[in-house]
Amino acid sequence: MNQAALRARQLMSAPPPSAARRITEIVESPLNRFFGAGSFDVGAQALVEEGGVLYCPALEFEISENEARLFDPRLSDGKRKSIYLRGKSREIFGSSASDADNDILRAMLERYRDSAMELVLQLFPTYRGAMLAASTSFRPRPTGVGEASLSWRKDDTRMHVDAFPSNPTHGVRILRVFTNVGAKARVWRVGERFESMADHFLPRVPEYSLWRAQWLKRLGVTKRLRSHYDHIMLHLHDAAKADLKYQRESPQTTIEFAPGSSWICFSDQVMHAAMAGQFMLEQTVHVALHAMAHPEHSPLAVLERAMLTPLLPHRG
Ligand code: SIN
Ligand code: FE
Repeated sequence: MNQAALRARQLMSAPPPSAARRITEIVESPLNRFFGAGSFDVGAQALVEEGGVLYCPALEFEISENEARLFDPRLSDGKRKSIYLRGKSREIFGSSASDADNDILRAMLERYRDSAMELVLQLFPTYRGAMLAASTSFRPRPTGVGEASLSWRKDDTRMHVDAFPSNPTHGVRILRVFTNVGAKARVWRVGERFESMADHFLPRVPEYSLWRAQWLKRLGVTKRLRSHYDHIMLHLHDAAKADLKYQRESPQTTIEFAPGSSWICFSDQVMHAAMAGQFMLEQTVHVALHAMAHPEHSPLAVLERAMLTPLLPHRG
């Protein structure tokens, strides 16, 4: 085992700090390829499922000259943060490019999707057959700039866990693979671990109303029933973003993801905020809860322990 791999292994087996409000762990990995990554498995699954970020400074995604030519914020349609594909569909969203340039973008996004999905399979073998490629996106606009002028709910420079109003997950996990394909570092803040964030904000979550959730579904506001779990996750997202004192003073650390690096985390579990950077590729992967090797760390398990009640309808 080389020095870097040894260091990563030591880091990964280090006992967690005992402070009550622990910060998200960020562990560097020597991983340097998307395909055949299995031999680099140094506890990545445990780290990420326990709420850590796996940072791979040498995991670069190759961009062709033809693709690099298109790296321009004007490529965005101006309405969305990303240019993206949804699942296996070939339709491209968020782009203002010509058909010919959209073909180039689509090919880049599909290549990234295939690479990221293979990486996840190699690092998280129990997810085989239990995961689905959700959106694949390219973010050509500078992050952070003008974000504060957005509604505070959409401002991703405020730390949050991902939860989407129209898209209840019913506990399906949101795993994300990110690659910085720009020339500047992508700067994130990561906050305290999910358990202590939830402890802090749960008292502010209003009571769940099944009647209201059914109504939202009937109106088409949500794509399926907003479960009690989704209700809480959405309110945790909002409560954290709305609380500027918390944003300033809660436990956190800043990390710069270097150009040509990649990182992986469960964004429904890691408190994160994107402060700066431009040009990033990202693959969202939905993973069934039953495929987790450490389901006790999932947001659902943490919240059910805290609330002393099942949070999904019709389970078990
Ligand atoms: C986010 O998921 O909140 C933003 C991630 C990024 O743009 O780096
Ligand atoms: Fe987010």
